[in-house]
Order: sequence, then structure tokens, then C-alpha cells
Amino acid sequence: MAAMTDFSIHPMTAALGAEIRNIDLREPCDADTVAALRVAWLDNLVLIFRDQDIGEDDQVRFAEYFGETVGARSKDRTDGGDRRLMLISNIRENGEPIGLLPDGELMFHSDSVFLEKPLMGAMLYAEEIPSTGGNTMFANMYDAYDALPDALKDRLNGLRAVNVFDYETQVRTGRFDRSKAPHATHPAVRTHPETGRKALYVNRLMTEEFVGIAPDDSDALLSEALSHAENPDHIYEHVWQVGDLVMWDNRCTQHARRDFPGAERRLLRRVGLEGDRPY
Ligand SMILES: [Fe+2]
Repeated sequence: MAAMTDFSIHPMTAALGAEIRNIDLREPCDADTVAALRVAWLDNLVLIFRDQDIGEDDQVRFAEYFGETVGARSKDRTDGGDRRLMLISNIRENGEPIGLLPDGELMFHSDSVFLEKPLMGAMLYAEEIPSTGGNTMFANMYDAYDALPDALKDRLNGLRAVNVFDYETQVRTGRFDRSKAPHATHPAVRTHPETGRKALYVNRLMTEEFVGIAPDDSDALLSEALSHAENPDHIYEHVWQVGDLVMWDNRCTQHARRDFPGAERRLLRRVGLEGDRPY
């Protein structure tokens, strides 16, 4: 059993991200350790655990310390594997990817924001990593909100936005087809239920428009808000190594993936944490 004094916290950037050292996630954690890790998570938004040689059971057990877990939908995991985990991979068997989101870069987003209750957080574990690329950039949405001009803060605080799960149309055309895609309306600025802090809550990959304003105004406002969301000043870019477990708070961060060589294998396992309705 890992005792609380075992681990240390090493911030990666001024904005967000901290490496947690001296903890072996194959071992169960005691309650004090879990409580201290949760504080570190709320303070740093993204926690990185390097050199972890963990199996699927270890990953799920660790995730369960922080909330109810969310795995793969049955149609997402047809390889007979453990549905408590979702695979993110470009590896193909019989021509079909064994995981989701197989190829290339991915625009900034927070996970499952197209649902009424988007994930609270998620944990991604690296099994196979290409020799270059595929880095994940994490952006701090508290900082993005805090840096907004007051007039823009006031405007966004009163608005709700529609978020759509339609990667394909969005990546191809920059628009969405809401008629055939899951979508949900959320506040453009949300309040974190644990810290009480406000976070900008619109993203390039899934936010289609603000509710109740003219389309041209909505487009202009969204583009302005996104430029703040993606400001490099509050981004930590994670360069993956095999054995990394990265855990992010999905309520106050966004993430994006850089491109990587399609001919090289990339395999990560994700466990989600159930969230609540943003307010
Ligand atoms: Fe994601």
C-alpha cells in the first residue's frame, strides 16, 4: 500500500501539468494518498505518472479512486477486450482500426462535451508510441477565462453553446451536421464544481454556435473565444513515453493531438470518469 509521503509533485509549466514521482500504480493507494492526489489534480489540472508498468486492472482500480468509471461503448470495442477501457489506436487488424480516433492530428476539445453530462476527467495510458509526433497539448481553461477582456467575459457568461459530435464533417468542412450527431447545450463559461473557479467552455472541435444570437455574431464571438482558449501561454505539451499515465481534469482543460507518422503504431488505453451537468 502506497503511503501519502511516498510521492512528490513536480510542476511541468507555470500554467498546468505536474509529474507525480515515486508512486507505483500497480500497488493499491491508501485513502490519504488518494486525497492528496486529488488535491494535486485540482491544483495542477493534469497529472503525469511516468514509467508505470500497469495492466488494465491496475488502470481501472486507480481510476475508481476518483469517481465512477466510463469505458468503451460496446460498438467501440469489438476486439473482445475489456470494455472498461477504450482503445485509442491506429493499429489495424483486417483493415479496421482496433481503436478510436486512429489517425493524425485532433483539434482542441474537452471529451464528450456533446453529452448532457460530459466526462469529469480521463486517464490515458501509453502502450505503444510512434518515434515522433502524437504529442498531446493540454490547455488551462481557468487561465483562458481569466485572461479574457472584461467585456468578453460579461458577454460569454450570459451565453450557452451547442456542442456536436461530428468530427468527420467538422474536420472536412468546418461545419457540423447536427441532424445525425449527438449534441448538447452547455454554458459557454462553466463553474468548476470542486474549486468554484470559472472556466471557458467552448472548443474548436465540437462547439458549433452560441444559442440565441445571429449566426454571423456567433461565428465572430466563437472565433474570438477560441483564440483565447488556444493561447500558447497556458498550454502544456506532453511528449509521450511508453508507460506514461496522464490524468486530466476535463472540466477546466482542453486537449489536442499533434500529427504523427501514420505508418507507425500508436496505442493508448483510456478510462473515463463520469461527470455531472455543467453549470
Ligand atoms: Fe480527447
